[in-house]
Amino acid sequence: MSDPGKQAAALAALEAVEDGMALGLGTGSTAALFVDALGARVKAGLRVTGVPTSAATAAQAEALGIPLTSLEEAGRLDLTVDGADEIGPGLALIKGGGGALLREKIVAASSARMLVIADSSKQVAALGAFALPVEIVRFGWRSTADRVDAALAGLGFSAPSVVLRMRHGAPFLTDEGHLILDCALGTIPDPAALDIALNAVTGVVETGIFAGIAGAAILGAPDGSVTRL
Ligand code: 5RP
Repeated sequence: MSDPGKQAAALAALEAVEDGMALGLGTGSTAALFVDALGARVKAGLRVTGVPTSAATAAQAEALGIPLTSLEEAGRLDLTVDGADEIGPGLALIKGGGGALLREKIVAASSARMLVIADSSKQVAALGAFALPVEIVRFGWRSTADRVDAALAGLGFSAPSVVLRMRHGAPFLTDEGHLILDCALGTIPDPAALDIALNAVTGVVETGIFAGIAGAAILGAPDGSVTRL
């Protein structure tokens, strides 16, 4: 049985979808609930095209009969609906718990609007309790991890923990064939500045900080009510 807060947020997001839209389709359990609901609307006659942010979302959407395309074919998207691991002040986000942060950021950046859907527990006073995912290339990953660690220390994070994400005893690989460092930081006082600083580290592909990208959020509470930010 799915989380009622996630379900409520996912269903409420359908109200933002209009016939003929090109949509970015997010990744994760909340985005999957939205894709399920969208699939039902498509079966009922809604015409949309979707650009999935992961292989998992592509497989789900395909199975539901949602027409898919590439960003190259679609051009600018009308709306992206995606989940988040943390939602902070100004709709700054941490994403990438599911490892899809790179495609998610490219798709969101190619959209006129990004709508975040999440259960209400994801709203925080400051980002950082959730370890920040940072996508890095495989080649020389240890040296990149050392540079990330040094950059974090230089930015004033005391004793940051930078850990290579593993799955089933092997390094986790993203859909783009990269690795992920999960960086436990405590509190992130300036998410936009951290995003810029980490993206300047050699070997880093992208960070899970989404600052100035999301335009709105729908938070679902355990009782099924929703709050719009
Ligand atoms: C995947 C993500 C997800 O949106 C994020 O991890 C939230 O997932 P969920 O809806 O399962 O809590 O960023 O890379």
